[in-house]
Amino acid sequence: MSDNHLRLGVNIDHVATVRNARGGAYPDPLRAAKLAEEAGADGITAHLREDRRHISDADIDGLMGVLSVPLNFEMAATPEMQKIALRHKPHAVCIVPEKREERTTEGGLEVAREENKLAHYIAPLREAGCRVSIFIAADPSQIEAAHRIGAEVIELHTGAYCDAHAEGRMDAASRELESLRDMSAFAHSLGLEVHAGHGLTYDTVKPIAAFPEVRELNIGHFLIGESIFRGLTPAIAEMRRLMDEARV
Ligand code: PXP
Repeated sequence: MSDNHLRLGVNIDHVATVRNARGGAYPDPLRAAKLAEEAGADGITAHLREDRRHISDADIDGLMGVLSVPLNFEMAATPEMQKIALRHKPHAVCIVPEKREERTTEGGLEVAREENKLAHYIAPLREAGCRVSIFIAADPSQIEAAHRIGAEVIELHTGAYCDAHAEGRMDAASRELESLRDMSAFAHSLGLEVHAGHGLTYDTVKPIAAFPEVRELNIGHFLIGESIFRGLTPAIAEMRRLMDEARV
C-alpha cells in the first residue's frame, strides 16, 4: 500500500439500527462487515454505545472473531467500555463523547478540560497495544491536549462542515473546511496521525480526502443509507473511487 493511500473505515452501526428496529438478527452487521471488507474497506468501525442502541456486546464479540481487517472500536470514556476494550484488545479504540457535557461546542470530545482523567483512562489501553484515537473538533487547544495525554491519533469531527454543506451554507462550509485543513496540518506537525469522519457523503468527501495529512476516513450513515439504493458493495466502491480521485 503506498504512503499516499487513504484508508477507509466503514462504520456498520446503522445496519444494527435497522436490525434493532424489529428485534431479531436481520440484517446482520457481521455480514455487512464481511461484505465491506470484500468491497475494499481497510477497516471496520463499530460504536458500542452505553445504551446499546445499535451495536451490541455480541456484535463486538462476533466482529473480533470474523474480521480480517482491523476493528476500530468506538467507545465513551467509561470504566465499563475500558473493561470491554481491554478484554478484546481491538486494533484501535476511538474515544468519543456520548453525553452533552463531554462535548466541545463543535461536538468532539472535551479533552482540554479533562486532560488528567483522560490520560489515566487511555494509558492501560495503550499498554494493551490498542492504538488510541480521540474524536475532537478542529480546535488547536483540543489537539494539543490530545497530544499531551499520549493519544497517537486524532479523528477530526467533520460534522459541522457536512451540515453546512447539506444546508447550502457554502460560506460556512468553506470556513469549516479551512479550519479542518489547518488543524490537520497542525496535528500532523505534532506527530499525531490524523483521521476524519462524521457525516461524510459523496458530495463532501473529496475536499477532506485531499488533505495529505489525513490517513483515514471513517464513514457509516451515508454508506449504509446509500446501500439501500445501490447495494453495499457498489456504495463503498464509489466512495473508494472518490477518495482515490481526490488523492491523485
Ligand atoms: N467517526 C466517529 C468518531 C464517529 O463517532 C462516527 C459515527 O458517528 C463516524 C466517524 C461516522 O459518522 P457517519 O455515520 O456520520 O458517517
